[in-house]
Amino acid sequence: VSVVAVLTAAGSGSRLGHALPKALVPVRGEPLVVHAARRLLDARDARGPLVDTVVVTAPPEHLAAFGTALAALTVDPGRVRVVAGGATRQASVAAGLAALVPPAGSSGAGPSDTTSSDDDEAADVVLVHDAARPFVPPELVARVVAAVEAGHDAVVPGLPVTDTVKRVGAELAGAAPVVGTVERAQLRAVQTPQGFRLGLLRRAHDEAARHAHDESLAATDDAGLVERLGATVVVVPGDERAAKITTARDLRVAELLGDA
Ligand code: C5P
Repeated sequence: VSVVAVLTAAGSGSRLGHALPKALVPVRGEPLVVHAARRLLDARDARGPLVDTVVVTAPPEHLAAFGTALAALTVDPGRVRVVAGGATRQASVAAGLAALVPPAGSSGAGPSDTTSSDDDEAADVVLVHDAARPFVPPELVARVVAAVEAGHDAVVPGLPVTDTVKRVGAELAGAAPVVGTVERAQLRAVQTPQGFRLGLLRRAHDEAARHAHDESLAATDDAGLVERLGATVVVVPGDERAAKITTARDLRVAELLGDA
């Protein structure tokens, strides 16, 4: 089975308050994107390394800097490629998918047919991972791949939610009325890498691109797009070490803890 990864790293990271694009911000001596790419490349099972190729989506104006940062990661330069990301995370993933070698016979295909089979790429698995999760353990990457190989077409890692979560109404003078309490036992906080049959994720993104004008349909993760096709998504146990770095505080925590 061939496994490819799209590593999204085209965000500006404005919430981090750093001059560099977020994925180039160093933590423990290396940029976030280098940590994340290394852990994807390090994932293995009994047969050997799992991820053949990592396609990194970078801010278009920083392609060279990303190429330089990632150059030392592998002896085989073809294993890590840098492409320009898009204006949104979803557009960046779509750009990464487009940069993967297209399946035979797919050229010139019209709007996606959601009933079409994914046979062209039935053997292929794609992972989508955020550079904002630099310390993802390679074992988590392997767990996601294994679940796809075991027959699940869409797999996300998730952790139980420890906070109580309330649904609220419109905020007025700093106070929002509670509309309801969500049953916590049913909730999972979902991480990356998310793993998919490549053909399924391509169809989900093709379909999403047709509704790109409708912001109410924007999804915050790839599985959300796959759910819209009616496909089943499963959750496997996530890992605290795959925590997302969003704020300056998150970065300080990551600097302190690293892989721990
Ligand atoms: O902004 P957020 O933290 O949700 O971004 C999640 C991931 O998506 C980050 O790794 C970021 O670099 C990536 N991203 C992207 N292209 C964008 C926006 C975000 O690849 N236009």
